Amino acid sequence: MPTLTPFISVSRECPFTSKEATTVISPIWQAEGADDDNEKEDRKTSRFPQSHALDALSEAIGFSVYDFAQEEGFSGARATQLILRLPESDHYGVKRVILLGLGKPKNADQAALSKAYAFALKSLLGKDESLHTVAVSLVKNYERFGGSLLNDEDTKVTVEADVIAQAVLKALYDATYVSAESLKPVKGFKKVILITEHVEVVEKKLPFLTALNNGRALAKDLVNKPANTKTVQTLVDVAIEIAGANPDVFTLTVVDDLATLEKEMPCFYTVARGNVKSDPPRFIHLVYKGKNASRKVALVGKSVIFDTGGYQVKPGNYMVTMKGDMAGGASVLGTAKALAELKPENVEVHMFLAATPNKIDADAMIPDSIVDTTCGKKVEIRHTDAEGRLTLIDAVTKANALDPEAIITIATLTGAAKMAVGNTICMMSNSTKWGRILEASAKVGGDAVQYVDVTPADFENIKSKLDGADIRNTNRGSERGFQTAGAFVMSGAKEGTPVVHLDIAGADMLEDETSTGTPVATLLTFVTGLS
Ligand code: BES
Ligand code: MN
Ligand code: ZN
Repeated sequence: MPTLTPFISVSRECPFTSKEATTVISPIWQAEGADDDNEKEDRKTSRFPQSHALDALSEAIGFSVYDFAQEEGFSGARATQLILRLPESDHYGVKRVILLGLGKPKNADQAALSKAYAFALKSLLGKDESLHTVAVSLVKNYERFGGSLLNDEDTKVTVEADVIAQAVLKALYDATYVSAESLKPVKGFKKVILITEHVEVVEKKLPFLTALNNGRALAKDLVNKPANTKTVQTLVDVAIEIAGANPDVFTLTVVDDLATLEKEMPCFYTVARGNVKSDPPRFIHLVYKGKNASRKVALVGKSVIFDTGGYQVKPGNYMVTMKGDMAGGASVLGTAKALAELKPENVEVHMFLAATPNKIDADAMIPDSIVDTTCGKKVEIRHTDAEGRLTLIDAVTKANALDPEAIITIATLTGAAKMAVGNTICMMSNSTKWGRILEASAKVGGDAVQYVDVTPADFENIKSKLDGADIRNTNRGSERGFQTAGAFVMSGAKEGTPVVHLDIAGADMLEDETSTGTPVATLLTFVTGLS
């Protein structure tokens, strides 16, 4: 693993007076009265809320931290910090206290919290002590989250502690993350102590959070891997490694026979035609089965190793970032890795990756073709760059044959989704019930999500006008690009099978940025939440 998994412990008391930690990160909400837009006003008027930890610190060091912050004009605005460097003392071991501004509670969500914590943690990397022991205080009064999903007070507290621990652990991984390809040595943290009132809740959640972050790191590494070193086999090898290390819960089938693939998954194979010789396709089916599995779901991840666009080749810079067109598959493998650590007993998860690049040789698919699918529908190819849906439709039919309760598809499917929802999961479903379950899983898991509707008109729109074809891989014009793509993918399932589709084109393929590992958190929260 490229990430350092530090030793994490949970404690109720902030170790100001013990010699345990060298640095304490103490989060602070911005006072409600303070004005976001007018920093100057803030400096004069705001005084952030008192906290138990800061009271204790003031007492230990013999002067008021509140006065200090006030004099420095620190208001707790989001992603600002004030560092208090303490002289050596026999009375306490802490050398540095970071007052970390979180902004106002009403403006916070899990991602924002995580970013603020990562900002503080990152500022410590490379500081004098090469290995810090850091005490991170988990913020209190986090009311926004959970309120809409839960009404029971006890559960609310639990979720609140969960969410914050989750944000902090993500921050820790983000702060120490380096790509597997990088040769730079990283200095991380020797130990991290999470300070919270809800010790048991957070302790109980730690294995989940660690597994989640390890799974997310795997997904990120796979997406970040350069195009010239990534092949179909790269994904196969990861599946083999996960299944091989956990034979008690995993079984793996990899279909590599080209004649079988061509016959059984003709639409998927159509995409693979242009690179059968250079990087042949594989259909990966990885099954996780818990000891007492009573629930069964399927995850299908788009695994286009590199998307050139095919003969309708991507112009100019549009091809840059297309090494990440396998992010859906990577997120499924990341989830598998986390399942291997957690081994939930109740679920059976069928994971499918139809892996191939979309490249060009003399045999590559060309538009105006009509091709077969696993489900029997005939597909009119109108655009060789709308390849993701061609790989997914057959994988969905294969998944459907095992009769899961629901099929979840995860794909960097359309530029339209990226334009519409940016750095957010664009989610849709043919089932309101399952759509809402996945939407809630994203919110609890901390992945930003926007839910949109796929309508009968979208299915109408992808009907082919040609004799001999049923559906087409693009519609005329460019309206409702991600909904029609979603409708196409759902067309691989039998009537009545719930399909939830996550278009992550904007969520995990950002120019000039590395992978976010979205939506491993959503998938893991969903799968482990089935009971
Ligand atoms: N992999 C792309 C979608 C994509 C675009 C992901 C930008 C991330 C960033 C997909 O295969 C694609 O090319 N889609 C086309 C579909 C069109 C031809 C109907 C698109 O969105 O332009
Ligand atoms: Mn494409
Ligand atoms: Zn693509």
